[in-house]
Amino acid sequence: MTNDFFAPKLLAWYERYGRDLPWRHTTNPYHIWLSEIILQQTRVVQGMPYYYRFIETFPTITDLAHADEREVLRLWQGLGYYSRARNLHRTAKIVVEDYGGIFPTTYQELLKLKGIGPYTAAAIASFAFCEKVAVLDGNVYRVLSRIFGIETDITSHAAKAQFTQRANSLISAEHPDLFNHAIMDFGATQCVPVSPQCMFCTFNQVCEANLTGRQSQLPVKAKK
Ligand code: ADE
Repeated sequence: MTNDFFAPKLLAWYERYGRDLPWRHTTNPYHIWLSEIILQQTRVVQGMPYYYRFIETFPTITDLAHADEREVLRLWQGLGYYSRARNLHRTAKIVVEDYGGIFPTTYQELLKLKGIGPYTAAAIASFAFCEKVAVLDGNVYRVLSRIFGIETDITSHAAKAQFTQRANSLISAEHPDLFNHAIMDFGATQCVPVSPQCMFCTFNQVCEANLTGRQSQLPVKAKK
């Protein structure tokens, strides 16, 4: 499949089947960042009430930075992985103290922030500032490895570079934000890890995994 074909097809799929999620209606980088941290190890349905509660309790990053850590942890209760809440608070303080409470606006600048890695930087840069930079998470690895038949072990360093390059070569120039939402949704709801319903998939005529019956073998993930 050619690169030109992928983004329009994915965006058409998203327009029809994409999920309507609250953080997709905002370009506020703080709200987007908050949603991504909450969703890192949490399902959308579980994370959504926390997202609402956080932005209601701490409408701005300055409010969050000035909060007592106990209150942040109390609000986080039930989500688990409490280091996420502590890091959230720490990064909020850095943004307020070192950046005047204003998020950097580019991927490269966001990456310099302690507590923000490549995934989160790409999510904020694309969703808030429409920068053409692809997100790479488990969903994206799965979708690309299957459609393009990429057999590199996704836990390897080589895979990170290879998939990053591939995703950035596919991303829509006009709608990088929608492209990133779309590829994550596609992985979360159509190209699911177990028993994907390829019969109903918009890519089934071009997907390497479907054409060769390798859905259950892709992505390749070395056993620890
Ligand atoms: N999981 C992680 N980030 C997400 C997002 N922005 N939308 C839906 N699911 C997600």
